[in-house]
This record gives sequence, C-alpha cells and structure tokens, in this order.
Amino acid sequence: MSYIKSAALEETGFVILDRYDQAQDPKEWLDLEYVDWKSSGDTQFAPLASANGEIEVNGFWNHQPPRTDKDGVWIESQVAKAPRLTARAQEPGANVGRCRVIELKPNSYEETLYNLHQDDNNRLNPDGSGWIVRGFFNLSDDADSCLVLREERFDPDTEIRIPLPAGAQVIVDTQRFWHAVWHPGPENRYCLITSWESGPELDAFIAKHHGTTEHTSPPLDPAVIAHAQADVQRRFAERAAALAERGSADEGPEMSDV
Ligand SMILES: [Fe+2]
Repeated sequence: MSYIKSAALEETGFVILDRYDQAQDPKEWLDLEYVDWKSSGDTQFAPLASANGEIEVNGFWNHQPPRTDKDGVWIESQVAKAPRLTARAQEPGANVGRCRVIELKPNSYEETLYNLHQDDNNRLNPDGSGWIVRGFFNLSDDADSCLVLREERFDPDTEIRIPLPAGAQVIVDTQRFWHAVWHPGPENRYCLITSWESGPELDAFIAKHHGTTEHTSPPLDPAVIAHAQADVQRRFAERAAALAERGSADEGPEMSDV
C-alpha cells in the first residue's frame, strides 16, 4: 500500500507545533454534550464530528456503509457550542474524520502503560490516499501530564513523553505508535482530538505553526519505570490466565483515543 504521508512525521512519527494561547478562548469544552465511551482509561467524549452527525463516537468502519476515518459529519448542536474548537479543527483545511473532545480522569503511570494502544485510523483507507494522523490540542492545563508514545509496546527505551500544558499542540501517527496519556490530575483533562488526512494542506499547517520533531522527554526515575513495567506484565499475565480458564482468546482492550 502506498499512502501520502507528511515528511514532517516520516522519521519520528510525531511533530510538535507552536503552543496555542489557550487562555484567550472561552472554555467551550465545558458546554458540550458528552457520551460515555470506554477508551484509554476512564473517559467520556464530546464529538464535534461523527460518522453521521449524531452524538456518538464509534469508529466509522462500524457504521453502514463502513468507511475509513474521513468525511466526518459536523454535529450542529455541538458546533454551535464550540465554534472556536471547530475552527481550530478545520484550520488546516485537510479532510477531517472523527473530531471530539476527550475527558480523561486522573490515572497512574502503571495504568498508562496498561492502556497503551495503537489506533486503527487507516482501516479501509484506499491505497494512494492520505494517511490518517491525529491532532491533539490540550485544552486544560496539565503541565505535569504526558502523552506517552512507544514504538515498541513493552520497550521503555522507545518511550517518548510529551508534556501537556494548556495549548500544547501535537500531531501523531497514532497507528504507528503505542500511545496513552499519563494524567496525575487532580482535575479531569480535556483535549481536542482530530483525525486529519495527510497531504499538502496538513503539511502547510505544520509549517505555519513551526512543527518540530526536536524534543527531550522530561526525566522519569528508572525505578518507577521498572516497577510499572513489572506491574503491567503481571496484569497482562493475570488477564491471559483468566481468559484461558474461560477458553476465550485475548484480543486485547479495544481503545481508540487518548
Ligand atoms: Fe488512540
């Protein structure tokens, strides 16, 4: 398969944009309608664009007819409550698939590693079209929280941690990376997540906002990492044993967002 991809993401799989001045905007995300949706952690979602313009957040391939994560339908009632968020998602001019605000309750580093997952954005994406990537615009001010990315799920040496203060803007190839957010809290975290199709429009947006792949992860005590790794391995082993006892296969948790 040959997809159109952004050169800016080709090597590292992520790009960090200029920080947005979040304080200038009203907190539109507090006015939106949320739906329960179990994702990566304890979460709720407020969709701005969905498969058919309804307030639900299922993958577009689970609708009829099944399709890839493109051509999201804007939800009038939600857009009316969040015109700034909508404008930000539409600014690149790239095709938008799913677009929603995630609400994430506080969690631990152990839970974050357990929640690591890859997205499935490019399911049914036709060969030769743009690879779907995702934008993460942090809305609440969570400077001590991190977007955790790993090239290899169980290899901490591949881990990248990107802090999430208000206005942090990151674009990630979430089908390539195992990812989840570590959010110590104490308040809920809010983030606008948008699926964009790669192409010249997205490339221009990345350039306009000075996208960079230069990044140094904030330090984390190796003992903390080792302890969390062991904890996660234990949880996976327990789950596999429980499933084996019931005679069912372990298909892993179904998650799609952070
Ligand atoms: Fe995800």
